[in-house]
Amino acid sequence: MKKILVVIGSAREGRAADKVAELVTDELTALGAEPVIADLHQIDMPFFNNPVSPAAENYTITEPSALAWQKMVVESDGVVLLTPEYNHGTSGILKNAIDWLAAEWVEKPVAVIGYGWSGAVHGIANVVESTKHLKAAVVPETASLFFMKTIGMDGAPTGEEAKAAVEPVLKALVG
Ligand SMILES: Cc1cc2nc3c(=O)[nH]c(=O)nc-3n(C[C@H](O)[C@H](O)[C@H](O)COP(=O)(O)O)c2cc1C
Repeated sequence: MKKILVVIGSAREGRAADKVAELVTDELTALGAEPVIADLHQIDMPFFNNPVSPAAENYTITEPSALAWQKMVVESDGVVLLTPEYNHGTSGILKNAIDWLAAEWVEKPVAVIGYGWSGAVHGIANVVESTKHLKAAVVPETASLFFMKTIGMDGAPTGEEAKAAVEPVLKALVG
């Protein structure tokens, strides 16, 4: 059974991210995978502050929260990055989490799912570009969930369209 990390890229109280994560974890379970949630708000990493670049050979992490994040990524068979859209980009907390790692992303299967008023297309594009740069195996399919169309303001699906949007992406990831 593949262990798939579902990364919540929002720190906001009352965030829509939790319901979106629920949709994704339910779908992963239906596909026979084992979803594991990585809540970046709970992990609570500082802004990247290592004196050495993650791309450097001598990069080592000592920060406990970043070590926990690194372990979660390394131990997963694939990662779903859930991005909100903040000012036509991804969230700072998700970008920061991506930046803490480098070698861990190489060839890591990654899927990107976004949600927002216009489907978080810019947020998704940011995350796809960064993870491709890091040589992750980013699945070509992405999913956009739209407030007041496929999901409510709380992030919960309003019908079958939300499931239909995420299913092909997760299938491509789980294989
Ligand atoms: C600072 C900020 C900027 C935002 N910018 C956008 C935006 O550019 N496009 C959009 O569709 N929604 C935007 N939104 C709305 C968010 O997509 C919406 O609040 C969403 O619920 C955020 O995800 P979360 O609830 O999981 O934190 C913005 C929200 C905030 C707080």
